[in-house]
Amino acid sequence: MTHSVPPPPRPATAPAPSELAWVPFVSVQNMMALINGIGLETALRELADYIEADFRRWPDFDKTPRVASHSRDGVIELMPTADAESYGFKYVNGHPANLKAGFQTVTAFGVLASVANGYPLLLTEMTVLTALRTAATSALVGRLLAPKGARTMAMIGAGAQCEFQALAFRAICGIETVRIHDIDPAATAKALRNLARHGLEAVACGSAQDAVEGAEIVTTCTADKQNATILTDNMIGAGVHINAIGGDCPGKTELHRDILLRAGIFVEYPPQTRIEGEIQQLAPDHEVTEIWQVLRGEAEGRRDAAQITLFDSVGFAIEDFSALRWVHDRARAAGCVERLDMLADPDDPRDLFGMLDRAAG
Ligand SMILES: NC(=O)c1ccc[n+]([C@@H]2O[C@H](COP(=O)([O-])OP(=O)(O)OC[C@H]3O[C@@H](n4cnc5c(N)ncnc54)[C@H](O)[C@@H]3O)[C@@H](O)[C@H]2O)c1
Repeated sequence: MTHSVPPPPRPATAPAPSELAWVPFVSVQNMMALINGIGLETALRELADYIEADFRRWPDFDKTPRVASHSRDGVIELMPTADAESYGFKYVNGHPANLKAGFQTVTAFGVLASVANGYPLLLTEMTVLTALRTAATSALVGRLLAPKGARTMAMIGAGAQCEFQALAFRAICGIETVRIHDIDPAATAKALRNLARHGLEAVACGSAQDAVEGAEIVTTCTADKQNATILTDNMIGAGVHINAIGGDCPGKTELHRDILLRAGIFVEYPPQTRIEGEIQQLAPDHEVTEIWQVLRGEAEGRRDAAQITLFDSVGFAIEDFSALRWVHDRARAAGCVERLDMLADPDDPRDLFGMLDRAAG
């Protein structure tokens, strides 16, 4: 199903855009059609495969911590990376106070481009896609680190990311029950309703302490622009895997420092995580393990059944690059692409001015 928007009227004298002017575009509506057409859990598994493939070729990428512009109420970030063939970036914001004003905390869009000539290959919404790629990354790491046979996950924070996380952990790690706590009971009720439609057993919990009861995996995905203490040390028993996704900015963390001191800590890209992750609470040389090295068998994952493992997730550009690749590979065949007249393409590449002049009539 293609949802195309008619182009705006042009002056009679203006030439029609050339083939090179058009950039494939995936709208929110088409992203939802793509994901629902493929099936959400299949899409999550495919995304996890793309992310794993790119993590396994980590040295091939240009890497930099994301460029963050902080303000009183939030942050706007640019997340670029490139391999020899393609360049990708995501624009994303994080504004925890948005919720009260009826806006989302996180919105995003992104571009994939050709390294050879710099032309964009794809412009796409990434708000929905970010929820999927974050959940796919969390579950991919969960499969690597969580205790064998884990069936129950606690979920603290039932906002926009919640159901994606829960369903990714079912699709990729085999969890059967999710125990949910949010300070706002309406958020928990929303998650329970949505997950019931997908046949995942979900239990409403009155506190974070209640939620972690019997859970082998604990996911924290709250939003607050402060150093919060969602989990305290006494709440985390031996062998638990923590998937901490909400602490992702300077001054914005979710775990008590004592948990970090007891855990084996796994991260995406240390230069970014040391600024933004839970480990901003620790010394700058505190030992961490990079996920890509565990995936390649170059570093140890879970040491033993009693170890507490922590994925200190902040979200890294390569995950978005993988997601952009996935959309680029999947959307056209599914008929979920429009074309935007986005690149000026004069007949003579040096006559940009003439093209503008001729369009004036
Ligand atoms: N690591 C990543 O890659 C990544 C990606 C996307 C989002 N995030 C982060 O994940 C977090 C969640 O994002 P979202 O889009 O779901 O936000 P959201 O605002 O939609 O939901 C956050 C929820 O947390 C709840 N909450 C706040 N404080 C709480 C507390 N003390 N105990 C229990 N619940 C609490 C709120 O009531 C809300 O329902 C944000 O901090 C966001 O920045 C991280």
